[in-house]
Amino acid sequence: MSNIRPTHGDSDWFVKDRFGMFIHWGLYSLPARHEWVKQREEISDEDYQKYFDHFDPDLYDPKIWAKAAADAGMKYFVITTKHHDGFCLWDTKLTDYNATNTPYGKDVLRPMVDAFREQGIKVGFYHSLIDWHHPQFVVDSMHSQRNHPDRDKLNEGRDQKKYIEYLKGQVRELLTDFGDIDILWFDFSYPKNENHPNDFVGKGHEDWGSEELNKMIRELAPNIILNDRLDIPDIWDIKTPEQFQPVEWPKVDGTPVVWEACQTFSGSWGYHRDESTWKSPEMLVRMLVDTVSKGGNLLMNVGPTGRGEFDKRALSALSEYGKWMHHHQRAIYGCTQAPDEFKAPVDCRYTYNPDTNRLYVHLFAWPFRHVHLPGLKNKVAYAQLLNDASEIKMPKPAGVHTNVQASMEQNNLTLELPIVQPDAYVPVIELFLK
Ligand code: GLC
Repeated sequence: MSNIRPTHGDSDWFVKDRFGMFIHWGLYSLPARHEWVKQREEISDEDYQKYFDHFDPDLYDPKIWAKAAADAGMKYFVITTKHHDGFCLWDTKLTDYNATNTPYGKDVLRPMVDAFREQGIKVGFYHSLIDWHHPQFVVDSMHSQRNHPDRDKLNEGRDQKKYIEYLKGQVRELLTDFGDIDILWFDFSYPKNENHPNDFVGKGHEDWGSEELNKMIRELAPNIILNDRLDIPDIWDIKTPEQFQPVEWPKVDGTPVVWEACQTFSGSWGYHRDESTWKSPEMLVRMLVDTVSKGGNLLMNVGPTGRGEFDKRALSALSEYGKWMHHHQRAIYGCTQAPDEFKAPVDCRYTYNPDTNRLYVHLFAWPFRHVHLPGLKNKVAYAQLLNDASEIKMPKPAGVHTNVQASMEQNNLTLELPIVQPDAYVPVIELFLK
């Protein structure tokens, strides 16, 4: 697609790399029942303090994390520098509520950034706009203290403007103390509107000082990629649909945009011990393929444990990605949606590399003997299975089964497949276009 909405930051690398790792790590890894636990269970600061007092990830070794990401085929990562509970992973000068004051006693962000960079992985910072710990953050209907009997009193003396200064100051630290940051990922705005009509206070761009914030960010880091959750149209670079797969390439005012789906292995972003809706490896691979087939990126989340490890389930899912990517990365990196003239048949997705002019047919269901590809007759010079470079025949009409003949007459290209599906969650056929 040529008419993609231009970005302010540098998204050239982003639309080629396609696959990243999201990491949600913080105090909520200890209760281990969702990163919104403070809000959902309306836990007071005093009661939440026990997680701060016991944060001691003794097994934390970010080199292991970075290696797991690289082995899975991930090219960039986005880490929660601060989530909604307000806890900061780095040695920020602007609050004591950070990792260095926990029993662990050290900045956990800096070694992570170093370790991922060492693996050649680009660095993104997620930063929560919302803060259920900061004393100046005005309590609203989303806040963990929303049902406090003395809510109005709680808000006496709170000054959101002071919070804005804090937010700005922290973003300045993040963009100046860690070398060049590639992505800044804010989360999130919920302005009072038709979706939130009863909010006693929603929060949007005025509550974050989004305009000013953006100005500062663009000055400090002109190439950075900014996500779309600051509640101002036009300043963002990428759209970030979450927990669903868009039906088609997302557009704004009819123009396709650079976009990234963010997804979880199970139903929680933070480590959740008892959550059991872990996606199958097959579904995970399909989600990656589906995303790239619509011109997008996939940011897949891991929620490390309170001891500082990726748990077994996450490691296993990552290694399944790694196995698939080992043979099929060529159908992901540098790829995008296929030109409009090529429409994938039922149960298939196409990805396309414009530089090599190769089209990739991803088969979500392995058919018996033939697959018929509309509009591709006489357009393909050579076809092979991607996993082992074994030839896929393109039978000529004469002497073959009549359904192949009929299909070819309709301008389809028919491929002859082996009966046995290759050992891959999603097998891929590589087509060298003429
Ligand atoms: C949401 C949630 C949050 C998660 C994020 C990831 O907005 O508030 O917990 O960090 O999505 O996209």
